[in-house]
Amino acid sequence: MVSKQRRTTIFLTGASTGIGRAVAVRLMSEGYEVWGTSRQVEKLRDLPGLHPLRLDFAEPESIDQAWEQALAESGGMDVVIQNAGRGHWGSVEESSVAEARRQWVDLVEGPLRLLQLAAAHMRLRRSGCILGVTSLAAELPIPFFPITARVRRP
Ligand SMILES: NC(=O)c1ccc[n+]([C@@H]2O[C@H](COP(=O)([O-])OP(=O)(O)OC[C@H]3O[C@@H](n4cnc5c(N)ncnc54)[C@H](OP(=O)(O)O)[C@@H]3O)[C@@H](O)[C@H]2O)c1
Repeated sequence: MVSKQRRTTIFLTGASTGIGRAVAVRLMSEGYEVWGTSRQVEKLRDLPGLHPLRLDFAEPESIDQAWEQALAESGGMDVVIQNAGRGHWGSVEESSVAEARRQWVDLVEGPLRLLQLAAAHMRLRRSGCILGVTSLAAELPIPFFPITARVRRP
């Protein structure tokens, strides 16, 4: 009897564009099973084989729902890649407090919520890997990028 080997399962945030999209395509081409997120799930429809999920860091309940849906569909998540995020360009004088708060939500609060869900799941399974995509701005001063640099800094 030939047993079908379970494929490695990956939860990837920000799979709709840029780095996340390229990573999703590459991982699927190498045989991994990928659950990918976007704030607009329609943006994921043209990625054949991807399991689309809606997730918006500004809506904490959407993080929980996306994670629960991915777990229900996969039976267990092996890897989480925290890629979703964005930088904010603008001098300190021009950057609003509201934008600074949005950066905090997108780069800290949202990813922290997902990290806690993933860590709890992986601790129970005694297995798993969580990867984070960060920015050179976390290490180097970049002109007109002060809010992102501050929020990204470990
Ligand atoms: N490209 C660079 O040069 C560079 C440099 C340093 C760091 N980074 C970091 O690398 C990561 C990917 O960058 P990228 O250039 O590929 O960016 P991108 O093309 O703008 O893609 C960003 C992704 O994050 C998702 N996203 C944005 N805000 C979100 C939110 N509030 N909640 C949930 N998802 C959200 C977007 O999804 P939807 O819009 O579909 O919802 C999109 O899929 C980001 O964390 C970025 O800060 C990039």
